[in-house]
Amino acid sequence: MNYLEYFDRIRLAKEKIEKYVHITPIDYSTTFSRIINAKVYLKLENLQKTGSFKVRGAFNKLLSLKEEEKKNGVIAVSAGNHAQGVAYAASTLNIKSTIVMPETAPASKYLATKSYGAEVVLYGKYLHESMKKAEELIQNTGLIFVHPYSDLDVITGQGTIGLELYDIEPDYVIIPIGGGGLISGISIALKYRFPNVKIIGVQSSSSPSMKVSKDLGRLVEIEPSYSIADGILVKSPSELTFSIINELVDDIVLVDDEEIAEAIVLLLERSKTLAEGAGAAALASLISGKVKVNGIDKKVISLVSGGNIDLSLLSTLTEKFLYRQKRVVKVRVIVPDKPGQLNKVLSYVVKIRGNIIDIVHDRHSSDVLPGYTKIYITFELQSSEAITLLLTNLANEGIDVKIVE
Ligand SMILES: Cc1ncc(COP(=O)(O)O)c(C=O)c1O
Repeated sequence: MNYLEYFDRIRLAKEKIEKYVHITPIDYSTTFSRIINAKVYLKLENLQKTGSFKVRGAFNKLLSLKEEEKKNGVIAVSAGNHAQGVAYAASTLNIKSTIVMPETAPASKYLATKSYGAEVVLYGKYLHESMKKAEELIQNTGLIFVHPYSDLDVITGQGTIGLELYDIEPDYVIIPIGGGGLISGISIALKYRFPNVKIIGVQSSSSPSMKVSKDLGRLVEIEPSYSIADGILVKSPSELTFSIINELVDDIVLVDDEEIAEAIVLLLERSKTLAEGAGAAALASLISGKVKVNGIDKKVISLVSGGNIDLSLLSTLTEKFLYRQKRVVKVRVIVPDKPGQLNKVLSYVVKIRGNIIDIVHDRHSSDVLPGYTKIYITFELQSSEAITLLLTNLANEGIDVKIVE
């Protein structure tokens, strides 16, 4: 199919939305370039208004409505970034918005969407139940539905990201896929200008509907399972996005939660970039080697599509990462329950410059012999190699010691 007409619509979209959205930064990353062996650039849509690219499509859709449609107001179904994008765009343009969310939506998402000025209706356990409610409201009130991805105005709005990549002249562009609106728009914007650019989509292994559809050459639905990349869990891609992706996207790869979690923490630590799970999926595909780049001079854009992550999830992921890297270590020792024993153990922890975080005594477990105590010591380390020295030193003292994984 010839998508040239859509390409022109992306250029029009840029003109329409430019005074409402940011042109987001493109950050060359020395660290990730070294890790991946190519020139890696992060396109930072986490710094977009409302914390994700979604406002681009939302503004383009709302600005394309007729006056009488605007008067009726708009409705969307989402528990995530689409909800916030539509709510923000609608209130900026003085259009009434209603967002239907599942009752299980996190309080943070509910409150953020409300704070952007939407009327939020909580209904059903899952999105498809919320959708039923939205259909009922549309029938009764004539509200205009804003689809999260199967809509040409939404797709061409998201495609404006592609225009912002022209100066880089990328060889590879890596983009997360949920329903496929984002990658469809960007692919159209780029493939006409740079026919040789490789566009790679990334899905969560918990929700591979578009990948399986592309592999089979026909649209399939797959019920997602849990993932920290909640923004890209989509059961049913649409015919529209599927047909564009089938033609313009070179490959789709899957990443799992461990790979995504590592990318989230590395983005934060190395690039000071806050990404949510879906937003870190593209970089995860590069770091894990699922996407292979051929050539140290190749320019790779890794799209950081959103930064709306729950702080409690972020803190859990960070902690787990530090344990996995042995930068925080927990050891279990069993020592005679006598004065001076803890001091002896701690002196060896100090020798390897361990910084104590926590100490817990346990005298009551069934596996502790009378007269002994079990102690759990958690500490931070500058270098994970030092842990071997600690284990050797304690073992030489006859102390029963092991790392708690
Ligand atoms: C942060 C983030 N990245 C990527 C996507 C995927 O976009 P699409 O559904 O258009 O493929 C979403 C969708 O909500 C998202 O919120």
